[in-house]
Amino acid sequence: MTEVLAKIADSDILVLATPVYVDGMTGSLKSLLDRSIPLLHGRFELRDDHCRHPRREYAKAEKLVLVSVSGFTEMDNFDPLIHHMKAISKNLGCEFVGSLLRPYAWMLDPSWEQGAPVNDILEAIKQAGYELVSDGTMKEETLAAVARDIIPREEVIKMMQGHFGDK
Ligand SMILES: Cc1cc2nc3c(=O)[nH]c(=O)nc-3n(C[C@H](O)[C@H](O)[C@H](O)COP(=O)(O)O)c2cc1C
Repeated sequence: MTEVLAKIADSDILVLATPVYVDGMTGSLKSLLDRSIPLLHGRFELRDDHCRHPRREYAKAEKLVLVSVSGFTEMDNFDPLIHHMKAISKNLGCEFVGSLLRPYAWMLDPSWEQGAPVNDILEAIKQAGYELVSDGTMKEETLAAVARDIIPREEVIKMMQGHFGDK
């Protein structure tokens, strides 16, 4: 953690990436965040009428971004995670810039037997990265291009039934 904390402290933008596991972040990302508490002072301060720990002076990041994938198709599967990330941003004193989200992300895996064209999605993901670095934000249309429907939900369900059967 000594090495990792130094890298986090030196970052301009915190990009937290996790698949949705049981409606939230993975245990490993949560452990990392639990162990990042030394980036904050122990004392309390009032910020926007709320108790917070002040960030240590050497912790630079002013912005936080979520990158996530889910197995299910609906965008609301990300809601608990986004809510949590917004709370984390407030606690860290960072601006929450937004979320780069890809539902049923397993369809981006080229080894999936019934693959559909997804190159435009992969390009949009890269584009979001360029926008974040160059403008400090990600455009709504780029995020929408990343999250676009690939096939109708009924077909997704059929694919999964075919794949898993009774397993
Ligand atoms: C333990 C576990 C829990 C999961 N929970 C959810 C969930 O609550 N909602 C969802 O949409 N997908 C869920 N998924 C699916 C993953 O988000 C999805 O398959 C993702 O692409 C996995 O990324 P990974 O291969 O990097 O682990 C879960 C997967 C695992 C393994």
